Amino acid sequence: MGDADEKGSKIFVQCAQCHTAQKGGKRKTRPHLHGLFGRMTGQAAAFSYTHTNKNKGITWGEDTPMQYLENPKKYIPGTKMILAGIKKGERADLIANLKKATHE
Ligand code: HEC
Repeated sequence: MGDADEKGSKIFVQCAQCHTAQKGGKRKTRPHLHGLFGRMTGQAAAFSYTHTNKNKGITWGEDTPMQYLENPKKYIPGTKMILAGIKKGERADLIANLKKATHE
């Protein structure tokens, strides 16, 4: 179980330039992450995804974000999300933070 608050929120800073996780959070230029868990890829309202992200056809759950965030371009080839990947030791904390934040 990752550390959602202390560590996770610090790692989320890397995502926050593009994404908002909180409900009602100001929508940024990239897909809104609120309600992410349990949702299929490419379903955030009012965002024009790449076909490859939209058609990935997996549900964001326990393992999928873990795999995706290791190397987004490998998991979703052709994605327009520009992120090198999150180190293994940081991913669990980040995902714990995401789970919490995307539900609030
Ligand atoms: C430079 C901007 C940018 C950064 C930084 C960024 N993202 Fe993204 N993200 C995007 C874009 C753009 C997409 C849509 C990709 C597409 O359509 O191919 C996306 C898609 C996603 C998706 C898939 C959403 C869905 O509904 O299928 C997740 C999950 C995600 N990002 C999480 C993160 C996390 C967690 C971080 C921080 C570690 C992060 N992103 C950092 C721009 C960014």
